[in-house]
Amino acid sequence: MTKLLVVATSNPGKLREMQAYLANTNWELTLKPEELEVEETGDTFAANACLKASEVAKATGNWAIADDSGLQVDALNGVPGVYSARYGTTDSERISRLLNELGSEVNRQAQFVCVVAIASPDGAIALQAEGICRGEILHAPRGNGGFGYDPIFYVPEKQLTFAQMTPELKKSVSHRGQAFAALLPQLANSTEC
Ligand code: IMP
Repeated sequence: MTKLLVVATSNPGKLREMQAYLANTNWELTLKPEELEVEETGDTFAANACLKASEVAKATGNWAIADDSGLQVDALNGVPGVYSARYGTTDSERISRLLNELGSEVNRQAQFVCVVAIASPDGAIALQAEGICRGEILHAPRGNGGFGYDPIFYVPEKQLTFAQMTPELKKSVSHRGQAFAALLPQLANSTEC
């Protein structure tokens, strides 16, 4: 029997992505109501993912899933972090600002982090998983695919930026892919959901 899982986003792209990750489960995914906005007031990815999942579950009376993600740069003490989306108004503005902040810093180490959380209809967090992808910030963008900070995030093991990867490759190495890979066995073993 399929069960309804409300995705705490109004972004159809995110819904499709989550549908792909959860394709072999018995959840039927649906977008949250447009008018239901949850402000990301947490100061960690986990806090924001849990807040969004919990609020959407309570408001809709259904199970809900949410993720929160962003880029943490080691030499900038984890900035932009939970402010990754709010670091500029366009992707190119966000990239320019980050490259300016880093300047000629030699330590270019960084990581993308994603936390995904599932809440039961009463708002309690039932499952939570984190994925991390380590990489380096280039001095200039490389590649045309993806979105956000993808053109400046280089993964040494693949010798490619996220923007140079096929969607399948990015899915397998990315923070979001790793978070769902960690969530799926928890979901399979859960007696609650
Ligand atoms: P959110 O998880 O949808 O709130 O996204 C946070 C922000 O982090 C996005 O707007 C992007 O700027 C950045 N971000 C998260 N994941 C990625 C990614 O896979 N590639 C590039 N940027 C990302």
